[in-house]
Amino acid sequence: MALPSLEHFSYKDYDTFYEPSDDTYLLLDALDADRRFLADTVQPSVCLEIGPGSGAITTALATLLAEERGFSLMLAVDINASAATATAATAAANSVTLPVEVVQGDLANALERGLSGRVDVLVFNPPYVPTPPEEVGTQDIAAAWAGGRRGREVIDRVLPQAAALLSNKGVFYLVVVQENRPQEIMSVMKGLGLSGQTACTRRAKNELLSILKFTKAPP
Ligand SMILES: C[S@@+](CC[C@H](N)C(=O)[O-])C[C@H]1O[C@@H](n2cnc3c(N)ncnc32)[C@H](O)[C@@H]1O
Repeated sequence: MALPSLEHFSYKDYDTFYEPSDDTYLLLDALDADRRFLADTVQPSVCLEIGPGSGAITTALATLLAEERGFSLMLAVDINASAATATAATAAANSVTLPVEVVQGDLANALERGLSGRVDVLVFNPPYVPTPPEEVGTQDIAAAWAGGRRGREVIDRVLPQAAALLSNKGVFYLVVVQENRPQEIMSVMKGLGLSGQTACTRRAKNELLSILKFTKAPP
């Protein structure tokens, strides 16, 4: 899937929010590979991206779904206010025809109650880089990568939220690196009632990136 136009940003803008990189492209490819599954099987009404950064994924997903079928709502929440502003700007610059609502916030904390069991497509390319724990929890550009111990501190907080947010037909795409221990994440999710698989894997520079894909396990 092509990266949306980001020509409305200057090089300097990427000092304040995440510039799309190999992880972004792998997630775009995973969503594109699932185009038919998303359009024909999931048929999403509500999509949510946590941590949209530049808005590239939010815009690409909204564009993909608009091409395939009408759906009601694309939501995005980022802890970094500059990223939230950037995401709205990218959707507008690419003339996304679907409603895109962007808010600043910590994960889905503000949305969890209202959206419980209603999110059909959930996407998160999280801060996955192992860092000292004190680097986690800022609201600036460092929030794009600082993942704390084993790069898992933000990931571990989102897992129960994802399980609560997903609709019965919902799907959750999560970017991870090897240091995050993907098999352990899958077993945590299994305990929360979601079955996981590795949608794709790619080595990029010093990172072994994977996209984990979770769906609700049949009761
Ligand atoms: C690796 S970047 C990914 C950006 C974009 N989705 C992409 O793929 O290019 C991680 C994003 O998550 C955001 N983020 C980090 N912690 C967050 C949190 N607790 N709640 C919401 N967003 C968060 C960061 O600000 C950043 O925009």
